[in-house]
Amino acid sequence: TQAPVNVTVTGAAGQIGYALLFRIASGQLLGPDTPVKLRLLEIPQAVKAAEGTAMELEDGAFPLLAGTDIFDNPKQAFEGANVALLVGARPRTKGMERGDLLEANGGIFKPQGEAINAGAADDIKVLVVGNPANTNALIAQSHAPDVPAERFTAMTRLDHNRALAQLAKKLGVTVADIKKMTIWGNHSATQYPDIFHAEVAGKNAAEAVNDETWLAEDFIPTVAKRGAAIIEARGASSAASAASAAIDHVHTWVNGTAEGDWTSMAVPSDGSYGVPEGLISSFPVTTRNGKYEIVQGLELNEFSRTRIDASVAELSEERDAVRGLGLI
Ligand code: NAI
Repeated sequence: TQAPVNVTVTGAAGQIGYALLFRIASGQLLGPDTPVKLRLLEIPQAVKAAEGTAMELEDGAFPLLAGTDIFDNPKQAFEGANVALLVGARPRTKGMERGDLLEANGGIFKPQGEAINAGAADDIKVLVVGNPANTNALIAQSHAPDVPAERFTAMTRLDHNRALAQLAKKLGVTVADIKKMTIWGNHSATQYPDIFHAEVAGKNAAEAVNDETWLAEDFIPTVAKRGAAIIEARGASSAASAASAAIDHVHTWVNGTAEGDWTSMAVPSDGSYGVPEGLISSFPVTTRNGKYEIVQGLELNEFSRTRIDASVAELSEERDAVRGLGLI
């Protein structure tokens, strides 16, 4: 049998962590043949809560779970990590300026990037979930110069999944009927969910919808502001759906996209589609044998171009801001 894959999860005692860990343990992250060893990172005050979750993981008697270790030190937590899910982050609190938010997250993602650089396995794959996810990923990546830059990714799969669900509802089809959905740009309110290349049962999705007002005034804002709508309804931010998207992101990265389909991942730009090189921006990607490639050659209409440019401009501003703070 295969040796266990080391999966490091930060923010393990948080609400996404609680929804995520059991699915990893059950084999849904990497597949039904791959045993996993969990390495949980928390801040010292939350270690006890993480220990409680580890007790419940034990009680799940998951055949694929080879063990759970808990750390409050990033160097130890990332030692030997093959997959790292960076979920813990500093949320924006009332009255907090953007600079303070970025600085607080720099204090988390810089040491984690250094720890990944120092001790992670050669095949390390990193997914940043904690917000502002794209820029936190950039900070971590810039402190891991020995790790190939493309191993650092950020999560827009939840936005992708939300877009699939909204479009399926509109057209009276199931999400399984939809292929080639794309999220472009930042995981923020400026993100652009693009249906112009999507296909529904083999037909172009934008043509099937044939309603630009719905697209501009309903679909795009509903997807982009869904996180706020969940907070309003649930009194807490998306957790199970975010965990589910994190599972999807890594599972697709490792196991590949289906023929004739792609997914959305925020990855370091190689300059494709005019996105400045190095920005961690969401693109349509195909994956195979544990590697992803940005889908090339898509034609972008004016409607799409304007929205992608606006979201990418926001990412450039965030990069300038963290540069100004000396965080990258
Ligand atoms: P939460 O507040 O319930 O949990 C966060 C956990 O991270 C806490 O247990 C905290 O102790 C821990 N933590 C803080 N600093 C840490 C550090 N330096 N090292 C290790 N652990 C640390 O938050 P929740 O709901 O689990 O969300 C986590 C993050 O995910 C938030 O930043 C949230 O905005 C983000 N998010 C991102 C989504 C996306 O689509 N990219 C979707 C939903 C949430």
